[in-house]
Amino acid sequence: MQQKMDSSSLKRMKDGESIIDPKSTVGGGVADVYGEDRATEDQLVTPWTVSVASGYTLLRDPHHNKGLAFTERERDSHYLRGLLPTAVSTQELQVKKLMQSIRSYDIPLQKYVAMMDLQERNERLFYKLLIDNVEELLPIVYTPTVGEACQKYGSIFKRPQGLYISLKEKGKILEVLKNWPERSIQVIVATDGERILGLGDLGCQGMGIPVGKLALYTALGGVRPSACLPITIDVGTNNQKLLDDEFYIGLRQKRATGKEYYDLLEEFMSAVKQNYGEKVLVQFEDFANHNAFELLAKYRTTHLVFNDDIQGTASVVLAGLVASLKLLGGSLADHTFLFFGAGEAGTGIAELIALEISTKTNIPVEEARKKIWLVDSKGLIVSSRKESLQHFKKPWAHEHEPLSTLLDAVKAIKPSVLIGTSGVGQTFTKDVVEAMAAINERPLIMALSNPTSQAECTAEQAYTWTEGRAIYSSGSPFDPCEYNGKSFIPGQANNAYIFPGLGFGLVISGAIRVHDEMLLAASEALASQVMQEHYDKGMIYPPLANIRKISAHIAANVAAKAYELGLATRLPRPTDLVKYAESCMYTPNYRSYR
Ligand code: NAI
Repeated sequence: MQQKMDSSSLKRMKDGESIIDPKSTVGGGVADVYGEDRATEDQLVTPWTVSVASGYTLLRDPHHNKGLAFTERERDSHYLRGLLPTAVSTQELQVKKLMQSIRSYDIPLQKYVAMMDLQERNERLFYKLLIDNVEELLPIVYTPTVGEACQKYGSIFKRPQGLYISLKEKGKILEVLKNWPERSIQVIVATDGERILGLGDLGCQGMGIPVGKLALYTALGGVRPSACLPITIDVGTNNQKLLDDEFYIGLRQKRATGKEYYDLLEEFMSAVKQNYGEKVLVQFEDFANHNAFELLAKYRTTHLVFNDDIQGTASVVLAGLVASLKLLGGSLADHTFLFFGAGEAGTGIAELIALEISTKTNIPVEEARKKIWLVDSKGLIVSSRKESLQHFKKPWAHEHEPLSTLLDAVKAIKPSVLIGTSGVGQTFTKDVVEAMAAINERPLIMALSNPTSQAECTAEQAYTWTEGRAIYSSGSPFDPCEYNGKSFIPGQANNAYIFPGLGFGLVISGAIRVHDEMLLAASEALASQVMQEHYDKGMIYPPLANIRKISAHIAANVAAKAYELGLATRLPRPTDLVKYAESCMYTPNYRSYR
């Protein structure tokens, strides 16, 4: 199992270009030196050996099982003779076979179940498949299919994939955390299931989301699978259909709110820090906005937390906007932004755009906000509505006469950028999109709501209604389409571009807090990966096929910011952060066992 440090790494170390200080507490390093993907783990003792079960137990252990890829020698030394048919396969052949079988399913949910089965059977093969076929499999393990999987989670749930912490565990959360088999956790994705994608309250069945997100942390960002922990906080559900369903797997009661809710969350956050230390990242995921903003505000100064719906979305959208300036011309400050939907995603993006404009132009954030307008279910957010607005909408209540429809708002505000974050499908109607096209030579239209059915308009509609002039991207993927003989590749403004690299950057630097400037750093890194060849196809995001390289750049930029802000604890700072990030990434290739 062990490998020697390669000579170039040694030389670099001697040359003082220390990518990893031998005396530092960080194990592993360049080129996966110890072969254990433990480069980001704090440990004073190098894990030279790992004990691996033998025989039947080995075949049932997803972390070490290789199926037919066990070599003749391994079959002898690990008591596998007779337990496997004689053929010895390579991992590549296994990937080929599984892709053939996955492609043979017509229904995406069947593909999802096949992928989950594989994850439970052979973890490395699961990640190899996902990494090698990311564009094809991302829509399966992530939006949109994961949404359907959550809706039916009760019937497809087989084995525990993460921790369930319910009101019943109150007072015992620390003990519950200790029941999880892995000790060294670096990233937790936690949901309370109240706003799953655009599908609403799915209660405890929201578990599909943290599981899927963490699979991407590993596949796209390179965090070790064993360092990832999906958690569902079950405080009940207000979804009557689930409460009435005899197969519902969660707590059968209406959602706890107020003190009861916040006390449970407080206990959870304290237990996490107590059990895993200061540097464990907690990503809040798919919480309803009435809790999301408050939890983020409460814990961002005391814990390493990050809300993907608010901050991750903001960062990925900002990256698309920065990249699109090459096509649109001008700077961000020269544009006018109109949002449809003023919740977590909408106001989160709006705030980061304002911050970027303010940083780049040295104007106060309050001034920068005036370039940004939001519409919610009651119409344009304007100052006369201020008293009745939720707190996170108040900064956007500018002086203007009230307008009740999106179309009126487009005509009055004349935005160059229209962003949909309403969770309501087909709301960018032909009239709205045509109005955008009448105002702008290249209207930028982002229909971000997930899953696909909730997209404010489809890619084809955007290109058709603007006669091919729109720059379009969506939250869930759309196939390339043609208009007037020209083909367009719609971009996917999906958080999957950002959170794995951002989280990995926090892990490799040992950051202890997430700062807004790190989100700007992540956006800039992503935008810088869009090349001319991508612009030529109408893309404002780089292809997902390159996502590991992209994540390494994002991680490096985020880590650099963490060091600059004095929030990084892994010292000394590696000289070349991109190389360091790449070297720390989990690789799913099989290990050979002695
Ligand atoms: P949210 O519930 O916090 O906000 C929804 C907003 O839309 C609220 O301001 C609400 O007033 C408004 N709204 C609802 N119905 C409306 C209507 N008929 N007309 C006008 N406004 C209406 O939800 P959140 O977290 O902001 O998510 C919204 C959508 O964005 C979801 O579909 C979600 O999947 C999607 N999203 C996409 C992401 C991506 O990566 N592309 C990331 C995060 C969210």
